[in-house]
Amino acid sequence: MAIILSPLPYAAAALESHISAETIKLHHGKHHGSYVDKVNALAKEAKLADATLEEIISAARKSKDQKLFNQAAQAWNHGFYWSSLAAGKTRPSAELTAAIKDSFGDRAALDKQWSAAATGHFGSGWAWLLLSKGKLSIETTHDAETPVGGSDIPLAVIDVWEHAYYLDHRNKRQAYVEAVLAHLLNWDFASENFARAGQWTYPVN
Ligand code: FE2
Repeated sequence: MAIILSPLPYAAAALESHISAETIKLHHGKHHGSYVDKVNALAKEAKLADATLEEIISAARKSKDQKLFNQAAQAWNHGFYWSSLAAGKTRPSAELTAAIKDSFGDRAALDKQWSAAATGHFGSGWAWLLLSKGKLSIETTHDAETPVGGSDIPLAVIDVWEHAYYLDHRNKRQAYVEAVLAHLLNWDFASENFARAGQWTYPVN
């Protein structure tokens, strides 16, 4: 069963004024689309044509097939990124708000840490809000690296590859990151991921 490029959960122009339709169309159709095409070709060669994307990532990591890992992890990370953005204002659930307070103090402190990590990451990568050993944390991964297959549970992510922001913000990554944090972060999605994780790994009070 081939991996498919899922449609965006909003119109390409829905995030305009922060991320242009041109960026979204190119990023989703060309960049994400290319990762999906390549993972399908490479998975077939590796006799993983029937595997899920998560299974392909884990198998490639295990067999040290970096070429396949990069394409598969990028395909997964991008799907997660599109869901991490929303066109309208969203808020963390009461449970996630309590966890943010417990781990960071408040939303402003979380945003500050997330922005600093995303802006300060050298080169291409991803800035994640993770549930790690019962605590929320901000971590970056380099290039295609992904939490998939590890023990940390991703709640939301910001793509910090240049293709995510260069057309709109040129070299000003911080402006893009701050626009995402202030206007586009999908807290409904993060809250759903937090609630699901809480069912079996994190005692939410
Ligand atoms: Fe990207």
